Amino acid sequence: MQNEVLSGKDVPDVDQTSIWHAFGPTRSSNFMVKEAHGVYVTDMDGRTYLDAMAGLWCVNVGYSQERIAKKAYEQMVQLPYYPLSSAHIPAALLSEKLNSWLKGSYQIFFSNSGSEANEVAFKIARQYHALKGEGSRFKIISRYRGYHGATLGALSATGQHQRKYRYEPLAPGFIHIHPPDMYRESAGRSVHEYAVHCAHELEKAIVWEGPETVAAFILEPIITGGGLLMPPDNYLKFVEDICKRYGVLMIVDEVICGFGRTGRNFGFQHENVQPDIVTMAKGLTSGYLPLSATAVKREIYDTFLQDEGPTDRLRHVNTFGGHPVSCAAALENLTIYEELDLVSRSRERGEYLLHRLEDLFVYPIVGDIRGRGLMAGIELVVNRSTKEPLAIQDVQEILTICKEWGVIIGKNGDTVAGLNNVLTIAPPLVIEYEEIDQIVSCLAKAIERIASKYMSKSVVLDYLTQKH
Ligand SMILES: Cc1ncc(COP(=O)(O)O)c(C=O)c1O
Repeated sequence: MQNEVLSGKDVPDVDQTSIWHAFGPTRSSNFMVKEAHGVYVTDMDGRTYLDAMAGLWCVNVGYSQERIAKKAYEQMVQLPYYPLSSAHIPAALLSEKLNSWLKGSYQIFFSNSGSEANEVAFKIARQYHALKGEGSRFKIISRYRGYHGATLGALSATGQHQRKYRYEPLAPGFIHIHPPDMYRESAGRSVHEYAVHCAHELEKAIVWEGPETVAAFILEPIITGGGLLMPPDNYLKFVEDICKRYGVLMIVDEVICGFGRTGRNFGFQHENVQPDIVTMAKGLTSGYLPLSATAVKREIYDTFLQDEGPTDRLRHVNTFGGHPVSCAAALENLTIYEELDLVSRSRERGEYLLHRLEDLFVYPIVGDIRGRGLMAGIELVVNRSTKEPLAIQDVQEILTICKEWGVIIGKNGDTVAGLNNVLTIAPPLVIEYEEIDQIVSCLAKAIERIASKYMSKSVVLDYLTQKH
């Protein structure tokens, strides 16, 4: 039946006339995927591509893990649905597993998407302060260039102007500060000084807004879709100290960085911090089924146990959050992680990826290469001295060439004007070393083609001498 429908010649037409694609209609889909195995996806014409973006940064255990499908089937036969206003076994087991991954003591609220997980975090943060008699704390601070989701609250926290513009005014009470940008903003400072400087941005915002009005600060450990912006060492620790000092909750958005993407279970674990709230999605099921979670420190949860009136409880429910089949899929997904030791693999193969990418510095349009674990960004510039960003058309052309040659590379979304110039790589964590080589050599050839447009004769000579 599936093939009957999918092999029909008119399916792409039907798609065009009846599906409103993400980011559409101007970027409507001309890429229809039929099946996928391991790190490869195959389109309707039978062409196969190495997916160096794991779908949307999420298929961490790789495509076609039949074990997950089997567990989902078994769960669906046994208990296809029950709301989590009551309880069921897969959710209980998964919450226990997540606590072991978090190395902490958290109460887990399940939803369906990363956006919702963040919405829940904001509601809990505001209500927590109210329950403690500090109802004036409602503001949420976040960072420019960070992404926290598409729903109106999560979008309000998002610091990416172009994604918000047509939907404003958004929710009140969301404040933005500058993110760390080691490549463009840290000049003249040591890593330590820059970490202090960036953390001070947060302290200033809290003080200037009035600490008694601030509920929480939300951040991704590494800004991912906003351009792969790495924090300077110790930044997270300084942030945690400031949050504690002013009674502000620290929410870490691990929607992309979680589940081994950065070479640790969670991105925050690169530093000695224990966030108040951790949100997660994508890698939780490796994209096999929708599921997200908001992990809340036990002492915050305990505040809700007083329950002295009808508005003291968390007034939040969603029909599908913590769906038993999604939880069963997540459990099997995490079992595969543990058996294949995917977190260590991400760390080791990520080091190899970054090392191989360094070769791209021979092209003068490569301004910066950064990353951690199996996640990397390549910032492209017209000129290394001025750091003028490469035009979006050229960035796009590199992606198009790579795709023609069978490798799917990503780039930072349309986020802030003029800075859509970062290529991104975040493959399934099961990727092999040779496949990493394949990504890098394809990228090198594509970048070379675009770089040649910008190279003066003298630069070409320098480049040729370096290369040969
Ligand atoms: C860091 C981050 N937070 C939140 C979200 C929102 O997740 P979802 O698309 O599942 O709503 C995303 C999605 O890409 C994300 O990258």
